[in-house]
Amino acid sequence: RTRHPGIPLPVDMMVHWRNSQGIDLKDRPILLKTASDIEAVPFEPEGTDAVHADPLHPSGRARKAIEAARTPDDDVHAAITRAQAAYRDWERTPIHDRATTLERFADLLEENRIELMALCVKEAFKSIPDALAEVREAADFCRYYAYQARTDLAPRTLPGPTGERNELKMEGRGTWATVAPWNFPLAIFVGQNAAALVTGNTVVAKPAPQTPSIARKVVEIAHAAGIPEDALNLVTGGADVGAELVSDNRIAGVAFTGSTATAKRIAHTILVDEERPIIPFIAETGGINAMIVDSTALPEQVVADVITSAFKSAGQRCSAMRLLLLQEDIAEEMEEMIAGAMATLIIGDPGDPATDVGPVIDRSSYDKLMAYRETMRPRWLATTHVPEEGLFVPPTMIGLDSMDDLDKEWFGPILHVATWKGGKLAETIERVNAKKYGLTMGLHSRIARSAEIAEDLARIGNLYVNRNMVGAIVGSQPFGGEGMSGTGPKAGGPNYLPRFCAERAISVDT
Ligand code: SER
Repeated sequence: RTRHPGIPLPVDMMVHWRNSQGIDLKDRPILLKTASDIEAVPFEPEGTDAVHADPLHPSGRARKAIEAARTPDDDVHAAITRAQAAYRDWERTPIHDRATTLERFADLLEENRIELMALCVKEAFKSIPDALAEVREAADFCRYYAYQARTDLAPRTLPGPTGERNELKMEGRGTWATVAPWNFPLAIFVGQNAAALVTGNTVVAKPAPQTPSIARKVVEIAHAAGIPEDALNLVTGGADVGAELVSDNRIAGVAFTGSTATAKRIAHTILVDEERPIIPFIAETGGINAMIVDSTALPEQVVADVITSAFKSAGQRCSAMRLLLLQEDIAEEMEEMIAGAMATLIIGDPGDPATDVGPVIDRSSYDKLMAYRETMRPRWLATTHVPEEGLFVPPTMIGLDSMDDLDKEWFGPILHVATWKGGKLAETIERVNAKKYGLTMGLHSRIARSAEIAEDLARIGNLYVNRNMVGAIVGSQPFGGEGMSGTGPKAGGPNYLPRFCAERAISVDT
């Protein structure tokens, strides 16, 4: 089995959409419109001028432009008030009806796929294949959670002594705050809100400041699908709007995806007020994700999986590989092969269907990554050419003396490589664990025992053996990490919805 890096998705291909359980139950062929259809979708960046929103322009997207589309403080308060008022009615809507509404939402997301893909390309600078994957994952989340809600949220009768009826009910908790990231502005935004809504909660949703238009379109589609307007409210803006939202005592739970630092700030905000109820906090953050490769691995497959995991999506996935650990004996050969594959990557305009790697999300991210990359110049093992103008961070491979030298997540197309000694797999995994993050890990080995060791020792949420380590599939690869990578709940998994619920046990002496 070999996979090849850098094959662009033909824009007219027939796509077989996965159903919500991650298997192709029935073919749902959908003819993808052409890249020119995507190009034709008008896009006015919110609250800014075209230059500041253009990733191909040297000034890129600047902070002040991002701040422009901000919901005023009073409106955050009012949004929570509306969501609270809508809670009882929505919570009392039968689970079956809430699930059906979510399925209609999924259908409408698919129907609007060209516009949604266009927004992903133009506002979040996603490549066309990545934009398609976003629509698909968003629809998958809705259908999967609808299915889970129907099967798992119905009241259950539990055993008890004669003359007593015991019942367990799964109910909504109230109004949730959902705070979504810019790197999956469609899929994760939809996933968080779909989970909160189908379990009977109402929501005030805050997308990342970089991607308000995608969120606005999603909310419009959700309302058209039948989710009551006041049950799903949108507020936009930066950290100050997020802080105002999560610090409101009326919020009954927070679902957050973003940086570890922000997750900690939210946790602090939630806990510090003595008057405040204790509420659930679902956090999914980043990781120093490692792929370990031993000398039995298939080199061509490793190369393809490294390119996908480290550089596709411009490395802007929380699951992306940051650290490649090569067994000493094969390191030189593998590095050479990876450098060769890097040279074939097509870097450029995300709207061009041939593009493998687009620009990074904004000027501030670009500046941070480029400054770091420059400090590591003496250690570059390979890098690539990029267009002269625009926020393009050249995919770069950096050699480290020791795997312990990397202690920070660099959220872009920068891959670090270190070596390990054969026979020291367990120790190597423990050294990855010691970085305290725990999101994804990859292993390439044809020794069955090695996979067992990794399964046994790796303290991570998602282990990928002999494949790439990104793009978790809803219903097949529940996604989420532990330690500094998050509080653990797995999006797209069978245990996710109960995290949004209040469980109430009713015991009646009959
Ligand atoms: N769910 C995404 C992935 O698996 C998160 O980064 O790649």
